[in-house]
Amino acid sequence: MTSQIIAQPGIMEIDLYEGGAAHVAGVSNVIKLSSNENPLGPSPAAVQAVRDMAANMHRYPSTDHLALRTAIGEVHTMDPARIICGAGSDEIIAFLCQAFVGPGDEVIHTEHGFAMYRISAQAAGATPVEVPERDRVTDVDAILAACTERTKLVFIANPNNPTGTMIGAAEVARLAEGLPQQTLLVLDGAYAEFVDGFDAGKALVETRDNVVMTRTFSKLYGLGGARVGWGYGPQAIIDVLNRIRGPFNLSGFALAAAEASIRDTSYVAFCRAENAKWRAWLAEALAEVGVASDTSCTNFILARFADGKEAETCDAYLQAQGLIVRRVAGYNLPQALRITIGDEASCRQVASAIAAFKGAA
Ligand SMILES: Cc1ncc(COP(=O)(O)O)c(C=O)c1O
Repeated sequence: MTSQIIAQPGIMEIDLYEGGAAHVAGVSNVIKLSSNENPLGPSPAAVQAVRDMAANMHRYPSTDHLALRTAIGEVHTMDPARIICGAGSDEIIAFLCQAFVGPGDEVIHTEHGFAMYRISAQAAGATPVEVPERDRVTDVDAILAACTERTKLVFIANPNNPTGTMIGAAEVARLAEGLPQQTLLVLDGAYAEFVDGFDAGKALVETRDNVVMTRTFSKLYGLGGARVGWGYGPQAIIDVLNRIRGPFNLSGFALAAAEASIRDTSYVAFCRAENAKWRAWLAEALAEVGVASDTSCTNFILARFADGKEAETCDAYLQAQGLIVRRVAGYNLPQALRITIGDEASCRQVASAIAAFKGAA
């Protein structure tokens, strides 16, 4: 009998998400600089919070995430009622697509935008629309020009991954102001914590009804493995998202780790300062050997090579030494490698390996 079990239209057209590699065949001691993780690890307070939870794992976790939402609200001066937590900000992105778009609707993302915008739009049956950037920077005019009566969502990451660049508050406000009435702007602030004094669009969220922000504990807070992200938006939007959120979408371990992390403000400040110090050092070291990069506002550098061939050869050279960085050809950047800012030793090692590669070339 032939199976009649088929997926919804469009699902099989989704390209699988490719994560950063973690292994190199035949190399045991790798340095992983491919997933924008915090090289210093999670806050010791988060580790302790997870240990403390262990004996209680027979209990279901909180369904309303009140303790975590309250902590986020206190630290960022936000109304906890307008915060929603998800299993990574990936889940908030998926909720937004599931709730607000369907077949016939368009979802705008930028040329080098994060892959999950496209994947989540397609999973909801909608049509992703890619808009050009200007020299690897989000182009507000291009986004506004691409809007149609079918545009329901616009995703921009600010700062952006994998470019590391960002646009200023006035540009973001101009974008929010210029969108059609039926369009919701999503400001993805996965890397917002790396920018000193940046509100990630909070003021816009609080003064407009067409702007939502997403945030994550996976980057600066070092909780990528725990899967915690959150969104902040107008009450009406958060009410919609909460209807499709599973009641136990975050484990007790994840909730405890995130709450402890966000309250450990001195560890956060320490990690931010270390990242800024080694990011500047690495950018300079690469520039000295002829590898250019845009000023990064994140915890990675997008290193540009002469062409795709050189980037590919350099990647293979680094891998042979156990250094894993990220090829970003799938993000329309074949000539670049994205290098996460590691600890001092990793930064020095990747810089000297790239210098040796350029010297030999
Ligand atoms: C721009 C951007 N948004 C969202 C995410 C998703 O992060 P998470 O689901 O771990 O919160 C990432 C992770 O790489 C990212 O780079």
